Amino acid sequence: MVAEELELHSLDDVGPATRQKLTEAGILTILDLVVRGPSEISDVVGVDINRAAELCNKARTKLVEMERLDRDFVPASEIYTKRMAIDRISTGSTNLDELLGGGVETQAVTEFYGEFGSGKTQICHTMCVTVQLGKEAGGLESSAIYLDTENTFRPERIYSIAESRGLDPHKALQRITVAKAYNSAHQEIITGELGNVVEKEKTKLIIIDSAVAHYRAEFLGRATLSERQQRLNKFMHLILRTAETYNTAVVVTNQIQSAPDVLFGDPSKPTGGNVVAHTSTYRISLRKAGKNRIARMVDSPCHAEREMVFMLGQRGIDNPSEETATKRE
Ligand code: GTP
Ligand code: MG
Repeated sequence: MVAEELELHSLDDVGPATRQKLTEAGILTILDLVVRGPSEISDVVGVDINRAAELCNKARTKLVEMERLDRDFVPASEIYTKRMAIDRISTGSTNLDELLGGGVETQAVTEFYGEFGSGKTQICHTMCVTVQLGKEAGGLESSAIYLDTENTFRPERIYSIAESRGLDPHKALQRITVAKAYNSAHQEIITGELGNVVEKEKTKLIIIDSAVAHYRAEFLGRATLSERQQRLNKFMHLILRTAETYNTAVVVTNQIQSAPDVLFGDPSKPTGGNVVAHTSTYRISLRKAGKNRIARMVDSPCHAEREMVFMLGQRGIDNPSEETATKRE
């Protein structure tokens, strides 16, 4: 159930007709108004952009009053206190957590990129389990949403990761909501509706594996490149606003081909990747090193650019030494 004060009719200037149009577009609360933003609201309701911006601003002001969003002008000391208290989710490997400054942050978009088999999907699966653990074990006693665009979500993998991390595997599966996106337009619709599931399930983690695959497949060649970038840019901003407004962690994956570059296919491939890069709060590159994987923090506003080693095992993501020591594989 959505709290009464978050409902659309709590804003005086949302009349019944406007409310109906918004509801039909999956915009059910004032949080959604802020997440979707003026240009989409203007399209949905059929009002000009200024009117839509006014509506979004009113929604924002209300959320600030409710202390669900920060005020426009805030002392740095207050931001510091809040950042120290920000929730983090363990990746499953203390090495990788250390690289991230204690785990994946809520209210941010964390991007894992790397070539095939570098462990992106395994990180996603592991985090769906670790988010459910108690705080002492690096979790938030919360649930996860998995947006699967490449049909690589495997419940049996969750089962074994949960079991080996001491959780009841059936209960762990119940706390993961999966949405399959069949194309980029579908991916955008689902993403727009994420907020409602987050609010209902009190979810702290949204996974998007992969964020870019559909865009790459659908917008091939130079002719459609700018449209691809625009759509991807809009998509990335939507998930960033979702992370901030709903206080969740968002993890996205992005497949990058390793150098030397491909001989065939789209030579402009990295460009789509750059759009993602500019919007992600944190970016971690992954590469294979035999059985191990090396993660590097790239372009972070507050982390040193350094590397850490982890591995993929029965427990999902793990530290290499622990895995070797327990010989579980
Ligand atoms: P793409 O989606 O193709 O770009 O790759 P990715 O980065 O998502 O790779 P993914 O996370 O799927 O990693 C695949 C690797 O994980 C495999 O090569 C295996 O080494 C490892 N892996 C997958 N399942 C298991 C498992 O059950 N046990 C162990 N030990 N390793 C596994
Ligand atoms: Mg994958």
